[in-house]
Amino acid sequence: MEVGEIRRRYLEFFRERGHVVIPSASLVPENDPTTLFTGSGMQPLVPYFLGQPHPEGKRITNSQKCFRAEDMDDVGDNRHTTFFEMLGNWSFGDYFKSEQLPWIFEFLTDKEDGAGLDPANIYVTVFSGDDETGISRDKESVEIWRKLFSNKGIDAKYVELGSIEAGSERGMQGGRIFAYNVKKNWWSRSGVPAKMPAGEPGGPDSEMFYDFGTPHDPKYGKECHPNCDCGRFVEIGNSVFMEYKKKEDGSFEKLAQRNVDFGGGLERITAAANNDPDMFHIDVFKPIMERLPESLPIRNRRIIADHIRAAIFLIADGARPSNKGAGYVLRRLMRRAMIYEYMTEDVKLDIGLVIGGLIAKYKNVYPELDVETITSVYNEENAKFLATFKNGLKEFDKLVKKGKISGGDVFRLFSTYGLPYESAIEFAKERANIVVDEDEFRREMEKHRELSRTASAGVFKGGLADHSERTTRLHTAHHLLLRALQIVLGSQVKQRGSNITSERLRMDFSWDTKLTDEQKKEVERIVNEKIAEDLPVIHSEMDRGQAEKLGAEHEFGQKYPDRVSVYSVGPKSATPENPQFEKAFSIEFCGGPHVSHTGEVGHFQVMKEEAVSAGIRRIRANVA
Ligand code: SER
Repeated sequence: MEVGEIRRRYLEFFRERGHVVIPSASLVPENDPTTLFTGSGMQPLVPYFLGQPHPEGKRITNSQKCFRAEDMDDVGDNRHTTFFEMLGNWSFGDYFKSEQLPWIFEFLTDKEDGAGLDPANIYVTVFSGDDETGISRDKESVEIWRKLFSNKGIDAKYVELGSIEAGSERGMQGGRIFAYNVKKNWWSRSGVPAKMPAGEPGGPDSEMFYDFGTPHDPKYGKECHPNCDCGRFVEIGNSVFMEYKKKEDGSFEKLAQRNVDFGGGLERITAAANNDPDMFHIDVFKPIMERLPESLPIRNRRIIADHIRAAIFLIADGARPSNKGAGYVLRRLMRRAMIYEYMTEDVKLDIGLVIGGLIAKYKNVYPELDVETITSVYNEENAKFLATFKNGLKEFDKLVKKGKISGGDVFRLFSTYGLPYESAIEFAKERANIVVDEDEFRREMEKHRELSRTASAGVFKGGLADHSERTTRLHTAHHLLLRALQIVLGSQVKQRGSNITSERLRMDFSWDTKLTDEQKKEVERIVNEKIAEDLPVIHSEMDRGQAEKLGAEHEFGQKYPDRVSVYSVGPKSATPENPQFEKAFSIEFCGGPHVSHTGEVGHFQVMKEEAVSAGIRRIRANVA
């Protein structure tokens, strides 16, 4: 079974059950200050769980490109990848457990229209309840699962494990449906209930695991169980029953609507359909795996394959190697891939062929994958890095001559020159019989991982930062600024990137030269004039074609579904019933949020204007 076929069947299955298929959002979210990357299908949909109506209705499905930087160091086994596609189906206050669980089980097991998995190899988990929040055990899901398995002739025994530790002591006990506590069967963007900020939605979940039947590895605990990490069981799907929201006082209340957030790993489901636990055997990895010689350790081959695939998708969504944020993570990925290639003398990948082969696998679904752009970004970064990397090898050789390499040295070589630590430790032993203090190295590494976790996994600053009052004012200021730039510089000015935090707004736009002081003043004057006029900000939903006809500005890097959300500013007499688009000051494709009248924005000021790259300028601005 190929990835493309499973993706097609999944979307068709849910389309037939009343879902609208929406495009994948960008891997690098433009307007979400809480995170660098899109790491799950639900992330771009948060407002709709909280009650905002989705323009496409209450039943939505897609395959979402996802990237999880925090998994980078786990890549190398047969199942971890940083990039993956998440198959999603969502109910915004529509169907709930009794519809969703039977559907997903049908999809997973149906031979003609689904993944065709043998139900005997599927194990499921449910929420065991939690004293702290007072949210009780999910008995309803247990009953639904029992019936579904019974229809397939399987007598599904229920086993309560509670904590993961209990699982490793007590094991399977002949069970099919297992209950675990908040650590395993509660889902929110920020994890367990205690870690959630006020305002954040979450809920109990029910997960599906595929049993690959590989022997248990006691390194991971005395007994095996579905959540054991030994590799026998791989999670292939997660139905989150998102019906709660955390309150300011730390307790939980029910949301106004009951939602379902299902996410399933496309590559993992494909591997299960092939009954092969090695993710790197599926078709999408072929163009690269088959070009890597078998003399290279399998772990290295997997790292190269994962990192190159992730990098091409990140580049396609606008990321460029740099020293901070998403660009830094991209750089680390690309460098690691190159190192694993160059450390071994006999590998010289024809990167052009590899990139071309990977893109051919995806081009019909993700047309943003452009061979030329991606290859040139790749080659440029590669050329820059080779020099540094060779210096790293020289440093390493010096230490070898001195006869001592500490854990701190290995970490420094890793963090400064990007020299992979596993190889450095291995090489030290092989080439000079030097034993590196690995514990010392790991302590340094742990410090570093903590840092990158907070930088990339998403930091929540007390509440949903993107819906705070200040951020909302900056969103509206952003629309006014774009229009003012077009008035002052010309209508050819287009937005080329944007980022809004509660502290400031940042906009990249197409323009060649430095703005003069007069131009900057004029831009400020126009924005402040529109604020003083206290124009209404109107939200409308319409067909994409109609919005395009109205000349609505696109948000940079976004692809749009057939129904879109649009915000227009002015004229003074505009109302939601009669938005008078032809007289509007600004119209943009946008999910919001925005203030209701421009007067709420406050005084607008340009803080800084600078070049980002050839033909692109960047403005930082603020409101007071
Ligand atoms: N949000 C859930 C997850 O990421 C299910 O879509 O697992």
